[in-house]
Amino acid sequence: MNFETIIYEVKDNICYITINRPKALNALNVQALTELSKALDVAAEDENAKVIIITGAGGRAFVAGADISAMQMMTAEEAYDYARLGQTTYNKIQDLPKIVIAAIDGFALGGGCELALACDIRVASEKSQIGIPEVTLGVFPGFAGTQRLPRLVGTGMAKEMLATARKIHAAEAKEIGLVNYVVPENPVAKAEELAAQICKNSMSAVALGKRAMNEGMEMELKKGIEHEAALFAVAFTTADQREGMTAFLEKRPANFK
Ligand code: CAA
Repeated sequence: MNFETIIYEVKDNICYITINRPKALNALNVQALTELSKALDVAAEDENAKVIIITGAGGRAFVAGADISAMQMMTAEEAYDYARLGQTTYNKIQDLPKIVIAAIDGFALGGGCELALACDIRVASEKSQIGIPEVTLGVFPGFAGTQRLPRLVGTGMAKEMLATARKIHAAEAKEIGLVNYVVPENPVAKAEELAAQICKNSMSAVALGKRAMNEGMEMELKKGIEHEAALFAVAFTTADQREGMTAFLEKRPANFK
């Protein structure tokens, strides 16, 4: 796959999407966001891509934010379009019927933190720093950080992070539930370990479960519970349900397609 700012690779059922602007600490300009969006479309259709790992090139940053030099002279209308481009791209991650893991090795700031928040699972190396420092620039998070961060860590912590612009170190990020795992180094290896576990399971069931959680979170509880039943029923239209339950009863490993 040919992109200038994104590296797209698939190996052993894992799709690696690497943001590749290391000189700008992988800051996301319009080109990078547009290419990321296209890469996600390709990953969605790619049958060999069962789990997606998003990471940053260069060893210093996951993504240091939206590109400040691109934003400096934007009009309000341009800023709106830029925010919508970031938001719709990140929504694709949320809606993708596959698990997306953010492997964070270094700075995940502003739009970079927001990218990680859109992923399903976050793994960070010890040196990583995560934050939403936009208020130091006279703006605030515009790639859905004001919406996803409080949903993940609660409004108290999210508002503190917003208003102080404090960069949270990996250990604290784990404590507040902002990341699932902290590893000494090489978060991609930990993400691969999780991906390998996920790949053993029914991909259709994982996709339906992710959808039930995502859509249910936007509903009132009892509606969400009802929605779960509807999607649970859909699972019973899949070959994986027959295979998974037959394999259990025959005391053999399931052979999911
Ligand atoms: N946009 C554009 N360029 C960026 C960038 C960004 N978000 N972050 C870093 N860079 C560039 C720097 O300008 C620098 O480029 P030059 O070498 O050409 O000068 C290069 O990356 C390396 O950065 P530093 O020299 O600053 O490296 P450092 O180690 O001294 O500091 C840092 C690292 C603390 C991450 C610092 O770069 C920094 O604070 N970056 C900005 C973080 C930020 O504010 N992010 C939020 C952006 S706004 C946003 O994301 C809005 C939104 O929600 C949509």
